[in-house]
Amino acid sequence: MIVWKNLDAAEAYKKLQAVQDAVRLRAVLDKDRVAAYSAPMACGLRYNYAAKKVDGRVLQLLQELADEQQLVEKYRALLAGEIINTGENRKVLHHLARGQLGADVVFQGKNMRQFYEEQRQKIADFAAKVHAGEIRGSTGKPFSTVTQIGIGGSDLGPRALYLALENWAAKNGKKKMDAHFISNVDPDDGAAVIASLNPEETLFILVSKSGVTQETLANELFVKSFLKKAGLDPAKHMIAVTSETSPLANNPAYLASFYMDDFIGGRFSSSSAVGGAVISLAFGPEVFACFLSGAAESDKMALETDIRKNAALLDALIGVYERNVLGFPATAVLPYSQALSRFPAHLQQADMESNGKQVNRFGEPLSYATGPVVFGEPGTNGQHSFYQLLHQGTDIIPLQFIGFLENQTGEDVEVDGSTSQMKLRANLAAQIVAFAKGKDDENPNKRFPGERPSSLISGKQLTPEVLGALLAHFENKIMFQGFTWNVNSFDQEGVQLGKKLTKNVLAGDMDETLAAYAGILGL
Ligand code: F6P
Repeated sequence: MIVWKNLDAAEAYKKLQAVQDAVRLRAVLDKDRVAAYSAPMACGLRYNYAAKKVDGRVLQLLQELADEQQLVEKYRALLAGEIINTGENRKVLHHLARGQLGADVVFQGKNMRQFYEEQRQKIADFAAKVHAGEIRGSTGKPFSTVTQIGIGGSDLGPRALYLALENWAAKNGKKKMDAHFISNVDPDDGAAVIASLNPEETLFILVSKSGVTQETLANELFVKSFLKKAGLDPAKHMIAVTSETSPLANNPAYLASFYMDDFIGGRFSSSSAVGGAVISLAFGPEVFACFLSGAAESDKMALETDIRKNAALLDALIGVYERNVLGFPATAVLPYSQALSRFPAHLQQADMESNGKQVNRFGEPLSYATGPVVFGEPGTNGQHSFYQLLHQGTDIIPLQFIGFLENQTGEDVEVDGSTSQMKLRANLAAQIVAFAKGKDDENPNKRFPGERPSSLISGKQLTPEVLGALLAHFENKIMFQGFTWNVNSFDQEGVQLGKKLTKNVLAGDMDETLAAYAGILGL
C-alpha cells in the first residue's frame, strides 16, 4: 500500500539530519572517486556525482529514504494512471505520450495511449503533406517556415528542443523548415518575429492547452491581423494544438487541430502534440520519434529501485539532501553546449512551477524547504557572468553541468594547439575542480573556498535520442523530488492570483493599492 507522508516524518530523513559532518570535497575528490561515483543513463549518457557532498553513508541513507518514501512505487502508480495530481483530480500521463511505457490507461472508455499515439500519427501525416507541398499557404506557395504562438509550457520546452536540434538537423540533412516562436504579450515580441517572416510561406501553430491564456490569444489576433493585412487567409496559415475541452477545439478557423489533454501538464507537454507539431514540421516526424524513444528509455531506467543505478532518482535525492540537510537555496543548470541555450529556462519552469510549493499534497503547511531556485546559462558564457558569485559568493549553489564530447555542426577551428570544442570541454573540467577544491591564497580576495558541489551529465553528442533522454531525466528527477517532499508537483495554483489581478486592472476593478501601481504604469 502506498503511504503519502511528509519528508520530516521519514525515519531516514531524521537519520540524515543527524549526519553533521558533510563530506569535504577538498579531501575526498580524487581520480578513484571520479571513476566510482558514476551512474548510467539512457542513450549512453552518464551521471557523475563524484563532486557531490555524498559518501557511502549518505548514499545508504538516501536509499533508505527512497525506499521509505516509496518513490519508485509512486512512479509506478503514476504510470498506472492513478490520480497523482490530487489538487486538480487528474492523472499524470506525459510518460504515456512517449508511448512505450506502462500499462494501458483507460479514461471514460478512451484508451489514452492510443489517443496520444493517434495525435502523433496525425501530426506526422500533416507534416509529411506540408513537406511534400501538398498543403500550401493561401497564395499557393509551399510553407518554408513555422512559427509557434504559445507561452510557458507551450513555448519553453518546444523552443528549447528546437534550438537543441537545429544545428544537428542541418548537419544531418533533416532540417525541413525554420521555426520561430512568439510568446510574450509584449507586442514587440510578435512584431520582431513577424518582421523576419515571409507571411505567404509561414505556417503558425497556435498552442494553448487551456485555450484561454491571455498572452496567446492576444498574439493569435496580432498574427491574424498581420496575415489579413498581407492579403492572406488566416484559416489557411494556422493550425492549433490544444485540449479537446478547450474553447479553441473543433474550430474550422484552423487548417488543422491536434490534441493533448489535461493529464499532461504544460511544462511536461514537450512529448505530446505541443512539442510534436513544431519538431515534426521543422525536422520531420522521425526526428520527433527518436526524441520520444530516448525519453522512453530514460523513463524505463527510472523504474530501477537501486539509487546507484537510477540516475534520475539519485539526482533527485542528492538535491533533497542539498536543500534540506545542507541548506542550499538554489541550483544552477549549466550546459556546456550552445544548442542547450534555452534548456535551463525550460527546466526553470519545469522545476519551479512543479515543486515551488508550501503545502503538502493534502493542503497542509510544510515546515521544511521544497523546490530550489533554478537558473542557468550555457558555458562558457555563464563563466563570464555569474560564476564570480558561484565561486566566491556567500551562498553555496549546487551545479548541474552537462557536456558532450562532440559538437553538432562538425565545424571547428584550432587556435593555440587546441580546437574550440576542446577548449569548451577543458573549461568544463576546470570548473568542476575549481568549484570543488578551490585554492588557498594569502590574499583573501583571491582565495577560493571550494566545497561547491556539482554533478556532470556527459555524452558523446546531443542527438534527438540523447535530448529525449536528458529531458526525461530532469522531468523524472522533479517528479521524484515532489514525491520525497510530499507535494503535488503537477498543479500550479501559484500562477493564478496575478492573472486575476491583471483582469481586475484591465476591467478598472481595483483597490487603492492596485490603482496606485496601475497609475504609475499609465493605466
Ligand atoms: O500560467 C501558467 C500556465 O498555466 C503554465 O502552467 C502553462 O504552461 C502556461 O500557463 C500556458 O498554458 P496554456 O498552454 O493553457 O496556454
